Amino acid sequence: KLEEMVRKIEEEFWVPVELLKELSDDMVLMMQKGLEDEESSSIKMLVSYVDSLPSGHEEGCFYALDLGGTNLRVMQVKLQGNRTIELKAESYMVPPKIKIGKLHELFDYIAEKVSHVFESVKADFDTVPGKKRELGFTFSFPVHQTRINSGTLLDWTKDYDAKDAIGKDMVVELSKALEKRAIDVNVTALLNDTVGTLAGGRFNNKNVVAAVILGTGMNAAYIEQSERILKPYGLPPKSGQMVINTEWGNFNSSLLPLTDYDCALDSDSPNHHKQILEKMLSGRYLGEIVRRILLSLADDAALFGDIVPPKLRQPYVLGTDIVSAMHGDKSTDLSVVGKCLEKVLEITNVSLEKKKVVVKICEVVATRGARLSAFAILSILKMLGKDKTSAGETVVAIDGSLFGKYEEFKLCLQKTLADELLDEEVSKMVVLRQFKDASGIGAAVVAASQSIYD
Ligand code: BG6
Ligand code: GLC
Repeated sequence: KLEEMVRKIEEEFWVPVELLKELSDDMVLMMQKGLEDEESSSIKMLVSYVDSLPSGHEEGCFYALDLGGTNLRVMQVKLQGNRTIELKAESYMVPPKIKIGKLHELFDYIAEKVSHVFESVKADFDTVPGKKRELGFTFSFPVHQTRINSGTLLDWTKDYDAKDAIGKDMVVELSKALEKRAIDVNVTALLNDTVGTLAGGRFNNKNVVAAVILGTGMNAAYIEQSERILKPYGLPPKSGQMVINTEWGNFNSSLLPLTDYDCALDSDSPNHHKQILEKMLSGRYLGEIVRRILLSLADDAALFGDIVPPKLRQPYVLGTDIVSAMHGDKSTDLSVVGKCLEKVLEITNVSLEKKKVVVKICEVVATRGARLSAFAILSILKMLGKDKTSAGETVVAIDGSLFGKYEEFKLCLQKTLADELLDEEVSKMVVLRQFKDASGIGAAVVAASQSIYD
């Protein structure tokens, strides 16, 4: 029975290359629709109001606040002729309670950390000493913007669900919290983490034309020709270009090979029917999918013996970091798998055969996720007209813990894109390059381009 169930799961989770290509065509259609009218598409294609990317010559000292998937980071960055010097960078893990508490509690928490960092930095580095400091705010959730320094929250995603936040302007809320603490700073830019990564990547490499985050959540931003944005968004930019935050994690399509595990995960989540693609593969969910499969194997095929380990019933107990560690276990007796099962799920004395089943499930789920990520990246290349041409290098800046820390996932993604989805000549010119923590630098660079002291 166990073998049969595993074989069925393998089949269900395998996404053939033809389907990846069809999904990519469908995603491109949705993206084009989103550029016309975001209500009629599952991909919102949000206008970022970043219409000129860094030249690499930005100068001065700026601050960046980066509310990402796992961490909150506060930075003081010095930009100096194509070089960035991080004068100060502090990272904090936002407590789970704050993520789902009241909005003002989240911003009070953020303001406290900003104040802590501001107290410890050297004012003599400030661009114009004695003048108000300037801060770029990377906020990794979907917001509707009408200008660069304002944006109302459309939805929480990942594991955030702070109350009374939807529809509020995140810059206003942050500024209120900073003022309460008498922190003298202007929030000059609000940007998504993908937009920050694109700007930060571009500051270092002029061939960067898109950015992808594969972390707790998943998303992409790219540079679009403004004439192709048909929905109203204000005056067309002089540069003729606009960075679009796709919010592709919300992609949904009848072509997506959703399994019962995905549907159950979605219906138990606070944001059901939303972020469907993200829920099939990003770091927040990958471990949870594996947990659900292991539980069904334990329930229906006695994977861990007659008694189902109670811990296995606890939602989200299995993190993607653990899945990555088990999948990467190279020891002959799978000792890492044994230790992880014991530590996280309190399951002991698992036979080698059963440990192999656990590894197989990790592999099956991660492989599907990596292959789906590859089709999504292909869609961005199509939007950029870079999927067929091998003229010039195309760099996609990538960041996030899933890509950065899950080796098998990363390798499978790169291989699928290069060997199955792109022609050989084109694939040589498409580079997926990791830019670690680029979005903080990106926020500082975008804040610099908005500086009122220029
Ligand atoms: C970081 C960025 O490096 O990557 C964040 O600075 C971004 O803004 C993140 O959200 C993704 O990280 P995570 O924690 O979701 O893997
Ligand atoms: C989620 C958010 C998106 C963010 C991504 C990666 O998908 O909705 O804004 O970019 O996670 O952090």
